Amino acid sequence: QQKMTSTFLLIGHLIPLIPLFSAEECVICDYFVLVGEPTAISCPIITLPVLHSDYNLTWYKNGTATPVTTERDARIHQREGLLWFIPAALEDSGLYECGVRSLNHSNQKTINLTVFKNDNGLCFNEKMKFEQKVMSKNTGKIICPDLEHFKDEDNNQPEVHWYKECKSGFLQDKRLLLAEGENAVLIYNVTVQDRGNYTCRMIYTYMGKQYNISRTMSLEVKERPLQIRPEFIYPKNNTIEVELGSHVVMECNISSGINGLIPFWQVNDEDVDSFDITYREQFYEEEMPHGLAVSGTKFNISKVKVKDYAHKFFCHFIYASQQFTAYIKLERPAQNIQGYLIGGGISLVFLVFFTVIIYKIFKIDIVLWYRDSCRPFLGKK
Ligand SMILES: *[C@@H]1O[C@H](CO)[C@@H](O)[C@H](O)[C@H]1NC(C)=O
Ligand SMILES: *[C@@H]1O[C@H](CO)[C@@H](O)[C@H](O)[C@H]1NC(C)=O
Ligand SMILES: *[C@@H]1O[C@H](CO)[C@@H](O)[C@H](O)[C@H]1NC(C)=O
Ligand SMILES: *[C@@H]1O[C@H](CO)[C@@H](O)[C@H](O)[C@H]1NC(C)=O
Ligand SMILES: *[C@@H]1O[C@H](CO)[C@@H](O)[C@H](O)[C@H]1NC(C)=O
Ligand SMILES: *[C@@H]1O[C@H](CO)[C@@H](O)[C@H](O)[C@H]1NC(C)=O
Ligand SMILES: *[C@@H]1O[C@H](CO)[C@@H](O)[C@H](O)[C@H]1NC(C)=O
Ligand SMILES: *[C@@H]1O[C@H](CO)[C@@H](O)[C@H](O)[C@H]1NC(C)=O
Ligand SMILES: *[C@@H]1O[C@H](CO)[C@@H](O)[C@H](O)[C@H]1NC(C)=O
Ligand SMILES: *[C@@H]1O[C@H](CO)[C@@H](O)[C@H](O)[C@H]1NC(C)=O
Repeated sequence: QQKMTSTFLLIGHLIPLIPLFSAEECVICDYFVLVGEPTAISCPIITLPVLHSDYNLTWYKNGTATPVTTERDARIHQREGLLWFIPAALEDSGLYECGVRSLNHSNQKTINLTVFKNDNGLCFNEKMKFEQKVMSKNTGKIICPDLEHFKDEDNNQPEVHWYKECKSGFLQDKRLLLAEGENAVLIYNVTVQDRGNYTCRMIYTYMGKQYNISRTMSLEVKERPLQIRPEFIYPKNNTIEVELGSHVVMECNISSGINGLIPFWQVNDEDVDSFDITYREQFYEEEMPHGLAVSGTKFNISKVKVKDYAHKFFCHFIYASQQFTAYIKLERPAQNIQGYLIGGGISLVFLVFFTVIIYKIFKIDIVLWYRDSCRPFLGKK
């Protein structure tokens, strides 16, 4: 849990530090393209291109000082801040640099382009698949990404054709529908059979020549958990008998369809490690079949002490801004002095209870006796 907190802190500190011209996480950003297909690469340090249009962006081949040409009919050229390969050839693989200069700033970034061939007998390369996920039983969407730079002369997006495992025709399934104007396929009532490799391909025409542009998505189907609402597996508001001085593992776990729920223990209205410094909670999370997750927290009571019998140990978690609670109570086994004392206490309670009952009955008897004995004097009413 401590580790998680520090990660959060780190992220929290990093976010405000990212400057306008920022390098994204990649030190050298990787780009991929299939041989024979066009690609347009944008410089990864431009995060806010619209706000800061007063900069000059220049592309260089790695290690050269002369900029890449701006001639539109060169196979490799730069245009509108993008580095174009129309189309890419195997020997284009390598490093390229983009330099950004504004009035008082300059920055540069190296990118690594790899030109792939299709895997044998396939219409894609295993190493350049986009991962996409859909949830079973829901409506899912497969998106053909990164096509925005490839408009034809009329500024229309050319028609996109779809393939599953490199074969067309899968769209005949009534559950599948082309999403108009979105370069996407909708899948209704997703099933596990929908997972697979989907390829979209369009014909791009540039300077009168036609090129293929394709993307392959590996679609994963996540099984929707039957039970989303979290439930305690343990404890169940139960009592367990433990000997004084014995070792107990106090475990609390919940089952749900949600990752990242964090249960925690409290006792006597404080965290367990405030109650006893040796009670150190350990958090865990496990993936279970059918999309379920088990989140738990546990701590050791290495030697049960007298104070541990005095309170209930509560396990809490928060879900949908509601707090859920279950407890466990430690009890000493019956055959000991403490047990007898509790037993004695209970007898005393019973004695008082019986006295009250007897007194009540007795009081009624007294009234009745009194009435009976007075009746002759009261006469008929
Ligand atoms: C890139 O340029 C650097 C410096 O000029 C050189 O050492 C390196 O080998 C080049 N890498 C490639 C892949 O061309
Ligand atoms: C961008 O380049 C143009 C032409 O090379 C130059 O006139 C202009 O001053 C440059 N702008 C910046 C911000 O460097
Ligand atoms: C350049 O400097 C001026 C004044 O220091 C500042 O207002 C402006 O935001 C800076 N421009 C960029 C692009 O950082
Ligand atoms: C560029 O990418 C290729 C393929 O991923 C990799 O083999 C190569 O080491 C990368 N080069 C650099 C300098 O990162
Ligand atoms: C999806 O499932 C629902 C309920 O099972 C059904 O009513 C609906 O017709 C299905 N949609 C398609 C497109 O098969
Ligand atoms: C997707 O393609 C890979 C090869 O890249 C293959 O091993 C895998 O079986 C394919 N997936 C499906 C569901 O056919
Ligand atoms: C596009 O790819 C398909 C299938 O690989 C091929 O038959 C076609 O000739 C290609 N078209 C162009 C313009 O390269
Ligand atoms: C949940 O906690 C109980 C009680 O300690 C334990 O028996 C069970 O194995 C735990 N379940 C999982 C999935 O960790
Ligand atoms: C509890 O104690 C056992 C050994 O006694 C140890 O293996 C385990 O890691 C401890 N668990 C916690 C949560 O401290
Ligand atoms: C267990 O006890 C907690 C707190 O006393 C209560 O909120 C919860 O509803 C109880 N759960 C069950 C299953 O009785």
